[in-house]
Amino acid sequence: MTMHVQIGHTPDRGFDDPLGLMSDCHRRIESFLAALQRVAETPDGRLDDERRRALSAALAYFRDAAPKHTADEEESLIPRLRALGDERVRPLLAAAEHLERDHALAEALHARVERIGEVWLRKGSLPEEALVAVRRDLAALHGLYTAHIALEDDRLFPGARAALSEADLAAIGREMAQRRGIDAQGGSV
Ligand SMILES: [Fe+2]
Ligand SMILES: [Fe+2]
Repeated sequence: MTMHVQIGHTPDRGFDDPLGLMSDCHRRIESFLAALQRVAETPDGRLDDERRRALSAALAYFRDAAPKHTADEEESLIPRLRALGDERVRPLLAAAEHLERDHALAEALHARVERIGEVWLRKGSLPEEALVAVRRDLAALHGLYTAHIALEDDRLFPGARAALSEADLAAIGREMAQRRGIDAQGGSV
């Protein structure tokens, strides 16, 4: 039986399709980043109830859920590709190194957005200087994620799907479930 879970707002594929689940996470990254950019476009960054909710939900996503996605890739997927020691996956491993560097860059940008975001939520608006800084960081994240997600969705995941065994894919799915405190067979752990 396939268990469909909801990591974010839309029903996801099951843990028996771990690479599909990782792509579903990309759609959430795109949508929460777009939400942050929309809020940051408001003059003075002034928060009404709706913008406050959107800002708070997006910050929470990038603080709590997105790091699990990075761990899915860095701790479950990429090590299994490396372990294949197969000539055919060499281009994928080169891509993986690039992706890991992106993760570190994104993390630093998110940390800055998180720091400003905390002040933003507390004060309900932002001084011009901080608003300009946060818009710049969000634009940098947008550029980074656009290329990063395309590389993962179009090259890394299809390559991994072709190279990894069913057993490896199943193990990745189990680890993803555990990372979220879910028993892949159903129920919580
Ligand atoms: Fe990634
Ligand atoms: Fe990703």
